[in-house]
Amino acid sequence: MNRYFGLAIIFFGVFLMIAFVLKERSQEFAIYESNQRLNHILTNHQALHVYVENIQKPVIYQLKSEKKLYEDFFDPKVLSFTYMARNIHTIENEILKKNNESLKYYKLASLNPRNQLNRANEFEKTLIEKFNSKELKEDYKEIIEEDGAKYLLFIKPVTANQPSCMKCHGDPKDAPKELIAQYGDKNGFYEKLHFIRAIISIKIPLQKELDVAKRYYNIVLLIVFLALLLIYLIIYVFMQKIDKKMRRWRDLPISTSLRGVTIVDLSTKT
Ligand code: HEC
Repeated sequence: MNRYFGLAIIFFGVFLMIAFVLKERSQEFAIYESNQRLNHILTNHQALHVYVENIQKPVIYQLKSEKKLYEDFFDPKVLSFTYMARNIHTIENEILKKNNESLKYYKLASLNPRNQLNRANEFEKTLIEKFNSKELKEDYKEIIEEDGAKYLLFIKPVTANQPSCMKCHGDPKDAPKELIAQYGDKNGFYEKLHFIRAIISIKIPLQKELDVAKRYYNIVLLIVFLALLLIYLIIYVFMQKIDKKMRRWRDLPISTSLRGVTIVDLSTKT
């Protein structure tokens, strides 16, 4: 086999290997970026929860204890964290849409939802069951594909029902009257203690990150290709030169080359 051809095959093999590794890495980069976005969403969610529970709700309770607000007052806009979280995510999506950013999906999926917007789909239903049967313990994360687009799916169970939840999720006769007036006395009631009544389901589109990663991948691959081509050409020219010299050396009359003058000959020729 012609050795230039052999060398070209080796270079092509190296190129294919680099292309493969780069592709893997660029996808990992896209997933890493989406994970960062997810962490950001979860941190915000947690901070909002702490704010509502520790700062906002006590103000309402204080007003009630000072009789500045009547005892039966209940409005989810200021007293239900889940109501606030859902609406904040909706507002965020409206802003993202305006800025041409990819939207995220956020849902507090429940089997017995008080608000029907929170009803779990079949997939979410099986996950709630798995969390309750302890088949799943940790958060659940997966790359999924829907209608040809990739998403990072994150599922986390909400805190299991505690005695404090029972006021509004246990027997309706314990619940604030205004809550019953707004939501009725069936949905979201008669929950069992320690039952995980919902999961937080977040879906982040990966497509934009994957597209960015692909663009970088193409540029880097082109640079690698050109660099390898350049190295190949340099080696090629170098080998050609050596070949030429060898040929010249070979073509010298045998008597001259045998006399050992050849060495002097070669060095003076260049
Ligand atoms: C003061 C009343 C009240 C208390 C106490 C309360 N909730 Fe709720 N909860 C509500 C209301 C009202 C909604 C519906 C909000 C909406 O419109 O999204 C709700 C909704 C939810 C949802 C969303 C699914 C659904 O049913 O629509 C979850 C999950 C939830 N609550 C969990 C809990 C847990 C866990 C506790 C205890 C740590 C708790 N709640 C305590 C009033 C309450």
